[in-house]
Amino acid sequence: MDDPFALSQISAYSDWRARKLRAYPADIADLRVPVGRLDQPTEAERAALKERIDTFNMALVEVDPGGIRTDALLSFTRALGLQRTDANLFADASAVSRITATRRDPGEERRADAGPRTHGGATLGDFAPYTDKPLSWHTDGYYNAPDGQVGAWCLFCVRAARDGGENSLIDHEMAYLRLRDESPRHIEALSHPQALSIPAHIQAGRTLRAQSVGPVFSVRKGHLHMRYSARARHVLWRDTPDTRAARDALDRLFSRPDVFTFRYRLRPGEGLVSNNVLHCRSGFSDDEDPAKARLLYRIRFLDRIGLD
Ligand SMILES: [Fe+2]
Repeated sequence: MDDPFALSQISAYSDWRARKLRAYPADIADLRVPVGRLDQPTEAERAALKERIDTFNMALVEVDPGGIRTDALLSFTRALGLQRTDANLFADASAVSRITATRRDPGEERRADAGPRTHGGATLGDFAPYTDKPLSWHTDGYYNAPDGQVGAWCLFCVRAARDGGENSLIDHEMAYLRLRDESPRHIEALSHPQALSIPAHIQAGRTLRAQSVGPVFSVRKGHLHMRYSARARHVLWRDTPDTRAARDALDRLFSRPDVFTFRYRLRPGEGLVSNNVLHCRSGFSDDEDPAKARLLYRIRFLDRIGLD
């Protein structure tokens, strides 16, 4: 069977590669799909989304800002074939995380409906996503167990920051393509089952999250999955020359124009849906009033987007 991700299958890879490259260069406008009702995307809207997802592994959804409610968001993601949510530490009961910068000052506590703000002694402000700091390149859930990897996520903007908070995105298949073109040994090293380890998260003697050991690249049901964090701390890379070379190549990739990075600052009413592509976020500054501060809704899924 044709498998473009098998290093032995040169012609399957070159066909796949040619198909991928045909879509580029591309602009953020190429990802945009207006959706009338978030809770009920039409057949035509689903078809437009499918086209973007098939090509880029991501789409930019544009809806009426008033329509972004957690229940509507869950209906929308269900219509994209996303069923199994990854209930992370701070998601509320419906698995929707409110991404907002946590104020350390107790006088600036968030609204009561903001979901749990602490977990086993860890507080939201301990985790970079819940601050106004930049976030380095990663795919979501890289610290999850190999069988609990995040296949897809959505990120919808309710309120934008006063300044900054821009996302950069790279289709992880494009990262694979550039690395494999540079050297198939990079792919080999990054596909090793012990390529990347994330140590357990232990606080006050309690294990909040077990150690996660696994490959960067894996193929799941015929689809390429990437598990990655550019963080220097709290990550352990396999200690071999090939792994180091592959990591360096990956680092260089983020400043290469031919990997085609999308840069975009979500406006209220806009959202990204993706098959867990590589992404990062710039730092931001917020309005002093918490009711006007940057707020995004995020849901992570164990499934990939399935629009057939
Ligand atoms: Fe993320």
